[in-house]
Amino acid sequence: MDAALTPAWWTDARLHVVSGKGGVGKTTVAAALAIALATGGRRTLLVEVEDRQGIAQLFNIPPLPYAERPIAAAPGEGEVYALAVEPEAALVDYLDMFYGLGRAGGMLRRVGAIDFATSVAPGLRDVLLTGKVKEATTRAKGGKRAYDAVVLDAPPTGRIGRFLNVTGEVAALAKVGPIKKQSDGVMDLLRSSRTAIHLVTLLEEMPVQETLEAAHDLRSSGLDIASVVVNMATEPQMSAGELDDIAAGDDPLKQISTGLKTAGLAASYAEPLRAELVDYARRFTVEQQARADLPSLGVPITELPRLHGQMTADALGDLAELIREQTGADEVADV
Ligand SMILES: Nc1ncnc2c1ncn2[C@@H]1O[C@H](COP(=O)(O)OP(=O)(O)OP(=O)(O)O)[C@@H](O)[C@H]1O
Ligand SMILES: [Mg+2]
Repeated sequence: MDAALTPAWWTDARLHVVSGKGGVGKTTVAAALAIALATGGRRTLLVEVEDRQGIAQLFNIPPLPYAERPIAAAPGEGEVYALAVEPEAALVDYLDMFYGLGRAGGMLRRVGAIDFATSVAPGLRDVLLTGKVKEATTRAKGGKRAYDAVVLDAPPTGRIGRFLNVTGEVAALAKVGPIKKQSDGVMDLLRSSRTAIHLVTLLEEMPVQETLEAAHDLRSSGLDIASVVVNMATEPQMSAGELDDIAAGDDPLKQISTGLKTAGLAASYAEPLRAELVDYARRFTVEQQARADLPSLGVPITELPRLHGQMTADALGDLAELIREQTGADEVADV
């Protein structure tokens, strides 16, 4: 890809938010993106906020504590750190930062007061989580940023609108004061070009539908979509003409029967084979439709293949490299 075609999100964003329907590969794509962005001697932070330990599972390591630690290397001496943000710990952090709560925070936590506070006000929970993400994104020491980029393995599309629209959530909770200020600060970051929201999808009906809806939802709260990532894509095994033939009737069945006869195989195999073909044709039609629908969002689309076997460090590295190729990142690095 020409360097001039490198999307703005690759060069401008410091916070990357990765969402998508459940199970489409959010955690995998977020990790691959964190590796891609760390390539060439940069440092990135991969964050999760859902108490799921998805990152630890992916990297095959023990559960992550509420502390940033290196989890992977990227080509060219890049480093990927990871953090699992817990709402309770984030609240203690927050209270300590603003009110110097010190040890009282630990006490509150032990008596269950914090669990109470965050479950009573779910909006508060989200402000704390996004607040922590903002803190990591903007943290600097001696004029140097702690991380070149932060990648958030975010809640799924069904919840992403509420999760990111913290101002709306907090409006009922606090009209003035530090919580309001914090949520305004988070919103400023999310709405700026320093944030890129990526929606991961499969070429299937429901995930594409959710992607289109989430994009609409987010845009109506002033949040832009930076890119769509089509994950687990497979090479089309059929042409549109072949699809028409199948739709037109029994012709393939006849061909299969003849083929079986020629091969000396039982004709009873014909029906299950035809069913497979028809099933594939159906999926293929849905994929074609998805490929036709997604461009309506008007954002760059990255396509990652369905890899076979375990999601190893090498496999993640391959996905990261594919992301770099499709964003033209390597050309930028060469300039
Ligand atoms: N490109 C790919 N090729 C092959 N397998 C993949 C690919 N991307 C993800 N997977 C596999 O799909 C499964 C779901 O991926 P992942 O956990 O990243 O999804 P998720 O969207 O984070 O799920 P959840 O909604 O449960 O958090 C995992 O087993 C993962 O290894
Ligand atoms: Mg996940």
